[in-house]
Amino acid sequence: MRTVFVQGKKIIVQDEKSWGVVVKEVKKILLPGMILTLQGPLGAGKTTFVQAFAKDVGIEKNIVSPTFSLMRSYILPKRVKGIKRIIHVDAYRIENEKDMLALDLSEELADNMSILFIEWPENISRWVSQYAGLVLCIEIML
Ligand SMILES: Nc1ncnc2c1ncn2[C@@H]1O[C@H](COP(=O)(O)OP(=O)(O)OP(=O)(O)O)[C@@H](O)[C@H]1O
Ligand SMILES: [Mg+2]
Repeated sequence: MRTVFVQGKKIIVQDEKSWGVVVKEVKKILLPGMILTLQGPLGAGKTTFVQAFAKDVGIEKNIVSPTFSLMRSYILPKRVKGIKRIIHVDAYRIENEKDMLALDLSEELADNMSILFIEWPENISRWVSQYAGLVLCIEIML
């Protein structure tokens, strides 16, 4: 069981197969260009949530944690709310925010057809803060 806050709204996720309730809540407020910050300790379920979201929007490819590659992106088979692509970043290993700039995430988001999921956003908080108005906060508690 996990307790999840979506922009402060509390949702209980009973088990790893029940992230659909969070996906549904997120889809209500989601717009292209948004950044979804996934906060929570190791093993909270951040990657599990991204997998549930990807499945919901029809992505068949298996989502694996981008811990080593830092970033992966996936094309939606059909647009959902104008969204054509999801980008998944795991900032766990980022020690210096400058390392992040090499990913060119700002460029990636500029087409306004993508959304970005970030695990460990606290490691790149300065970068995230420039997008304050586009951030959707998801907090997961064990
Ligand atoms: N709602 C849930 N209730 C109980 N267990 C869950 C739930 N959701 C996911 N899990 C389990 O928690 C574990 C951690 O999942 P996951 O890899 O998604 O965590 P994470 O937050 O991405 O961790 P990391 O910080 O290491 O990337 C998995 O074994 C998964 O099956
Ligand atoms: Mg993860």
